[in-house]
Amino acid sequence: MVRMVGASSIQPRILCSFVGGDYSFIQSTRPLHPLFRYNPGSKHVFMQLSRTFSGLTNLLFNRRNLDELPGSKRKSLRPGKVSPHRPVPDDIPQPPYVKSRKPPGIASGPEVHNQKGIDCMRASGRLAAQVLEYAGTFVKPGITTDEIDQAVHQMIIDNGAYPSPLGYGGFPKSVCTSVNECICHGIPDSRALEDGDIINIDVTVYLNGYHGDTSATFFCGDVDDEAKNLVQVTKECLDKAISICAPGVEYKKIGKIIQDHADRHRYGVVQQFVGHGVGRVFHADPVILHYRNNERGRMMLNQTFTIEPMLTIGSINPIIWDDNWTVVTEDGSLSAQFEHTILITPDGAEILTQC
Ligand code: MF3
Ligand code: CO
Ligand code: CO
Repeated sequence: MVRMVGASSIQPRILCSFVGGDYSFIQSTRPLHPLFRYNPGSKHVFMQLSRTFSGLTNLLFNRRNLDELPGSKRKSLRPGKVSPHRPVPDDIPQPPYVKSRKPPGIASGPEVHNQKGIDCMRASGRLAAQVLEYAGTFVKPGITTDEIDQAVHQMIIDNGAYPSPLGYGGFPKSVCTSVNECICHGIPDSRALEDGDIINIDVTVYLNGYHGDTSATFFCGDVDDEAKNLVQVTKECLDKAISICAPGVEYKKIGKIIQDHADRHRYGVVQQFVGHGVGRVFHADPVILHYRNNERGRMMLNQTFTIEPMLTIGSINPIIWDDNWTVVTEDGSLSAQFEHTILITPDGAEILTQC
């Protein structure tokens, strides 16, 4: 997902940028700086400061021990060791942002395809889904997220595709693995999964010049009912959102249906990370907000974009670790996410990221 900065009501609107990516949602053609150096709005200022204040957050939430989360036996997530760069064979085409010196961040219009483009999107979507399903089979107590990265990386290159996250705005690994309170963009590392963890695995592949992007949250061993319910409701939010998509439907209907369902279960919807157009470009127009909003814009026939709601049990506010990627809830409460890439068809939407 890409990250929101600034207020969406400002005209001309500077809606979004994203953590280190090649894209920002601006209606001019002016390139933007990578997010970590860009400082346009109060939300972003908050996020910069929030890292500094993570100690304060612990005080506010009255944590005696940094490793213990309030009212939970679960330990809070800590960074592990990141393994060396995994190579990709030279004959596999890389997306343009890899090894590019230009800061990724040029606006690009919606992804609307002809028949050949649709076929390519179907192929990359299917591969992404197959890789995600395979990655899920590794989720067991004791396995490290780095081992999941290794398996994902190998399967993607074995299929002649490039793992889109690798080298994206400096992201060091081939997949995102987001455990427990990690909202998104977790970097695979030496941490072993523990019984009771939940883990989102977010796979994006670049096949024949087209990205397919999908994620799911998996259970590791015996997961408690509170976590299971969060994961279930998050999945339902994605399914409900997809069910209303069709040509001419307003994008804002997606935010409404997701927020309505989350509200019913008293879960929060993360606002600062959003869905996006996807296709030849990893993060393209439009911005897909998962919360209630009043943005303009309607879905177009043959358009592809992602929907990827992140729901939380407690605070919806993110903190970003010093690695500049890992996004966690400020109160350490659990977060879950599901994502599909969809194609707008004459009578609705086709889920491209299906096996
Ligand atoms: N797959 C993520 C998304 O849904 C983006 C990950 S970018 C990375 O948009 F660099 F963090 F991998
Ligand atoms: Co995405
Ligand atoms: Co994704």
